[in-house]
Amino acid sequence: MDMLSATLGRVKPSPTIAVTTKAAELKAEGRDVIGLGAGEPDFDTPDHIKDAAKAAIDAGKTKYTAPDGIPELKQAICAKFKRDNGLDYTPKQVSVGTGGKQILYNALMATLNPGDEVIIPAPYWVSYPDMVLLGGGEPVVVECGIEQGFKMTPKQLNDAITPKTKWLIFNSPSNPTGAGYTREELKALTDVLVHHPHVLIMTDDMYEHLRFGNFEFTTPAQVEPELYDRTLTCNGVSKAYSMTGWRIGYAAGPEWLIGAMRKIQSQSTSNPCSISQWAAVEALNGPQEFLQDWCRSFERRRDLVVSELNQCKGITCPTPDGAFYVYPSIAELIGMVSPAGAAIDSDEAFATALLEEEGVAVVFGAAFGLSPAFRVSYATSEAALTEAMTRIKRFCAGCS
Ligand SMILES: Cc1ncc(COP(=O)(O)O)c(C=O)c1O
Repeated sequence: MDMLSATLGRVKPSPTIAVTTKAAELKAEGRDVIGLGAGEPDFDTPDHIKDAAKAAIDAGKTKYTAPDGIPELKQAICAKFKRDNGLDYTPKQVSVGTGGKQILYNALMATLNPGDEVIIPAPYWVSYPDMVLLGGGEPVVVECGIEQGFKMTPKQLNDAITPKTKWLIFNSPSNPTGAGYTREELKALTDVLVHHPHVLIMTDDMYEHLRFGNFEFTTPAQVEPELYDRTLTCNGVSKAYSMTGWRIGYAAGPEWLIGAMRKIQSQSTSNPCSISQWAAVEALNGPQEFLQDWCRSFERRRDLVVSELNQCKGITCPTPDGAFYVYPSIAELIGMVSPAGAAIDSDEAFATALLEEEGVAVVFGAAFGLSPAFRVSYATSEAALTEAMTRIKRFCAGCS
């Protein structure tokens, strides 16, 4: 008898976690490894947020809460959507989960039926297709290459929609490319969606606050109010407030969907950590000024990494608008051999050789659905980045 579910057989483990684990193993063996795989800011959670959590513990806020969030946090989320995005939501339209990941998962589990299609522009965040598969749906991957700035065109979207389409998953600024859609680019997509009333829109705005230069962040329900009733606007405190370990994500959308998500959560994990919820209230209601310093720091690192990577033989690296990733192409290196003689016949082979020969851990592009490329997370010190870039340059120079 097969002890595991058939559904599980459709899913693969997270490749980003696999890279981090491999790098940690090499480190444990005493190898000098620089990790550029992590998907989290290297800043500490700000003190005022930690203090709010300590105060919550002291005040005994340590019991079960409502399954999808305390009223105070739902209020803070409504205020955030109004302040940052001009969107009006009531607490009944808000769901709080254990990280943004659980929010997306709940929404898919609550809505997918066998055969339902979910449009996912690639490169994509690694979990989208597997979550869709877990829910019994079919990922419909739309390749958006470097030549189109990693962004989906209105024609691609229109061509991908069928009567079976249930969701479009939209992510800007993006993990893994950092690419952000301008208001005009987003409006061109929402103009298509207006004509397909059966399609729900899941916008993953996790990197909203990590943006550079003149890039203006916009979200679908803000750009096209006609989509408000079928958009789930997802966000969280993990990336913006450096709170990845606290596990708080949230979304706002139509009440029927929020209610369905609550049902799933109440029968699985129940409420997200009560203490983390109080910390998130402070994150959203408290000072926001430090974000500018963080963005300036990320922007400096982005510029360093983009400039250095573009000097490497065989690498082309676009300049992204936000998040803390770059997604360089290695098309010119495919077919070569590494300095130690490994065949570079895929981006996975490139990443493996780079890790083994130079001790630099990056995530290969196939994990994100668009090859040949790799993702660099530059959420690490400038000293580590500079050393990593020297190693990558040496590695590429030695490829032949
Ligand atoms: C695009 C995107 N969405 C969602 C998440 C999940 O965030 P959380 O840590 O809040 O679950 C991540 C985390 O890497 C992400 O990159």
